[in-house]
Amino acid sequence: MTLVAGYEVDDAILLPVRRDRGIGIVGCGGIVNYAHVPAYKASGFRVVACHDRDVSAAERTAAAHGIPRVAATLDDLLADDEVEIVDIAVTPEAQVAIAERAAGAGKHLLCQKPLAPDYPAAVRLVGMARDAGVKLAVNQQMRWDAGIRVARQLIVQGALGQPADARIEVSVRTPWQLWPWMARSPRLEVVYHSIHYHDSLRFLFGEPTRVTAVHGRFPGQPETGETRTATALEYENGLITLVDVNHHNWSEDAYARFRFLGSDGIITGTIGLLYDYPHGRVDTLWYQANAEPRQWHEAQLRTRWIPDAFAGPMASLMEAIETGGEPETSGQDNLGTLRIVQAAYRSAAEGRGIAPAEIALDEG
Ligand SMILES: NC(=O)c1ccc[n+]([C@@H]2O[C@H](COP(=O)([O-])OP(=O)(O)OC[C@H]3O[C@@H](n4cnc5c(N)ncnc54)[C@H](O)[C@@H]3O)[C@@H](O)[C@H]2O)c1
Repeated sequence: MTLVAGYEVDDAILLPVRRDRGIGIVGCGGIVNYAHVPAYKASGFRVVACHDRDVSAAERTAAAHGIPRVAATLDDLLADDEVEIVDIAVTPEAQVAIAERAAGAGKHLLCQKPLAPDYPAAVRLVGMARDAGVKLAVNQQMRWDAGIRVARQLIVQGALGQPADARIEVSVRTPWQLWPWMARSPRLEVVYHSIHYHDSLRFLFGEPTRVTAVHGRFPGQPETGETRTATALEYENGLITLVDVNHHNWSEDAYARFRFLGSDGIITGTIGLLYDYPHGRVDTLWYQANAEPRQWHEAQLRTRWIPDAFAGPMASLMEAIETGGEPETSGQDNLGTLRIVQAAYRSAAEGRGIAPAEIALDEG
């Protein structure tokens, strides 16, 4: 715990008392190897088995991280009594079917973002997990990234006063070649990347009432979907937020920053991960109160998005299993983020502002 202008903040990730619940991983690709397992190891979590449809990927992952068992099939993994939580990190079109089978086997679930390819499928999956009596968390781990977590702590303590103008501005060169399947997707930027920003803004400021988006491309880009997006979100209390992203900034003037301005203060900082993905650096965060003498206060941040923040959703899921409560990024909560994502695509396609409540009607 440290102080920023007299406000208490801490970017350490809270861990559950019981950390030994068996985790079974499905999908042993990039993100599991450079983020999930390193974060779990550092937190004392126990990965007992892993599975991939490409057996060699599962074997390589098990060998690299000392995971005791490789399950040849999903059924084998689900039949493993030591597996209490199934951590899914496969390509998105495969996730829902795996999650449904794991829930049917009584396993708790950590699913990747996006939770499902479309909003109605996500609603069905959340309902199915509820009916099966298992907890479902979504891996929206940006909420545990140091800059966002500490911003939230400041906001909750009243450091901003009335929020008025919040922005996340990212202009970087993204290595889409790490995910060839993503680069071929007709929907790209918002559903795979900005979904983190929309989830974080919900965490900080609640639900927007209207979403207005424009989507574009960079000259000559090889990716199929949009890589340049701007999304304006309006809130009942007058707040306007802006998520402004470009993934083809070839220049040396790349940046990834947040800026939250309120009546009583301003929080500004950088998203360290995006300065050198996937290694990144620690975020920065500065705060200034709307009072004389004007002075910037820097937060002492220590944790990184990759891998540290990846402990957050798993820790929160374990806590929910323990207490019978809900994970911070529960499937039910995540429907709010997915409504914004869907609203952004509809807005860009139809050229008008969309209320997320309109998306909720799609459920029926
Ligand atoms: N910050 C984040 O939250 C973050 C970052 C990167 C990727 N992701 C998400 O994580 C997931 C995986 O991404 P990645 O970068 O590791 O991709 P990847 O392509 O490196 O790995 C995906 C792995 O899943 C396996 N797989 C696919 N379908 C399967 C199935 N039906 N059963 C078993 N295994 C299957 C593949 O063989 C592959 O090894 C994606 O959903 C992606 O959107 C999230």
